[in-house]
Amino acid sequence: MDKVSADSTWIIIGVMCLLMLSLLLNSVLLLSKFAGMGMGKGKGMCLGGEKEMMTCPAVKEEVQVSSSSNGSSTTTTVVSLDSIINLDHGDPTMYEAFWRKMGDKSTLVIPGWQLMSYFSDIGNFCWFLEPELGSEIRRLHKLVGNADTEDRYIVVGTGSTQLFQAALYALSPPDATEPINVVSASPYYSSYPSITDFLKSSLYKWAGDANSYSKEGPYIELVTSPNNPDGYTRQSVVNRRGGLLIHDLAYHWPQYTPITSVANHDLMLFTVSKSTGHAGTRIGWALVKDKEVAKRMTKFIELNTIGVSKDSQLRAAKILKAVSDTCEIKVDQADNFFEFGRREMSKRWELLREAVKQSGMFSLPEFTSDTCNHSGKITEPHPAFAWLKCEGEIEDCESFLRGHNILTRNGKHFGMDSKYVRVSMLDREATFNQFVKRLSNMHS
Ligand SMILES: Cc1ncc(COP(=O)(O)O)c(C=O)c1O
Repeated sequence: MDKVSADSTWIIIGVMCLLMLSLLLNSVLLLSKFAGMGMGKGKGMCLGGEKEMMTCPAVKEEVQVSSSSNGSSTTTTVVSLDSIINLDHGDPTMYEAFWRKMGDKSTLVIPGWQLMSYFSDIGNFCWFLEPELGSEIRRLHKLVGNADTEDRYIVVGTGSTQLFQAALYALSPPDATEPINVVSASPYYSSYPSITDFLKSSLYKWAGDANSYSKEGPYIELVTSPNNPDGYTRQSVVNRRGGLLIHDLAYHWPQYTPITSVANHDLMLFTVSKSTGHAGTRIGWALVKDKEVAKRMTKFIELNTIGVSKDSQLRAAKILKAVSDTCEIKVDQADNFFEFGRREMSKRWELLREAVKQSGMFSLPEFTSDTCNHSGKITEPHPAFAWLKCEGEIEDCESFLRGHNILTRNGKHFGMDSKYVRVSMLDREATFNQFVKRLSNMHS
């Protein structure tokens, strides 16, 4: 062996040793991470968007591979045949793939001395709203055509969850002898009852399914459109005198539903959690027609959290700007954010329907196509959740799927029976693919 080839042999051996060492270190890191998760359970470490339903994420076989050349790291999710697939909560990790590709266009660096004051815009009634976020919200709604921002007041919140509570406070009559009833048509978003009754407020209380509500007097109806969990477009159902409406439009975006009209309701809630996938940024916004209601919502947030994280607001502004910039390029291109989302969701729904057909044990809601004013295309709704029904003799669909290591949310949490479960469609691709594969192999 000459010197050159001997040298290269030693280099190859060296590189292999380093790789082995890196793999070993990653495994140790992962083990300690998962052990830490277990320890945190029950101690508030796994709190998240969907309140009490939120559990620690199931242990996935997730391998972190660090590339030493440029210091960047990528995450590969490997889901083995028998691992637990957790589709119980709507964690929007599907969108990581898009934002990875966006690179610096969505990166924000904040020097240590910036954004230190409590105040963002003291001239504005919502003094903690960063003006840049306000303008990007208006710009995006105008480009998408999904909501009217003209003559509307914007209130920013720590997720739309905080805004929902601020809206309940703002709409409730302050001097009533009885709490105002809060209703929503079942199946309704499972967090509404628990959030509404959590503090046992004397202002408002949960009163159940709007479909069977028949009391006289004022009430608040929550209208979620497209609906979580079943994906249908909705309108108010009670329609009695004294009704106050909160429209939760978290999913009123082109990747989930054809946009057929510009929403212009009195009080509309939106969130980056479901529009762009940035659930961890915890930013939502309300578009409010009545200034007094907007002021009362602002007061609630002032007393609740003295405003909303400026760092998060600026991150959200950067993300919304990046989305709008992609909307200004041709809408049918894959680097258009909503086109990316629509294609991905469409593919996933196709795979899920195919798996349901192959199995013969389940059924799914059916949707009709419509023309989307944003893309100009005729498209079907592709909801963020699948409202799956166990057909035949299985009464408890959630337990049945848990027996196959698939975690979903029981229909009873949505005011329905246990033959139904809600399944998140927004997880990472590997998890979703493993889910449909497992489903298609189930036979009665
Ligand atoms: C209908 C609906 N509204 C609100 C939320 C919560 O949004 P945020 O993360 O902004 O608090 C969710 C989350 O799943 C939802 O499905």
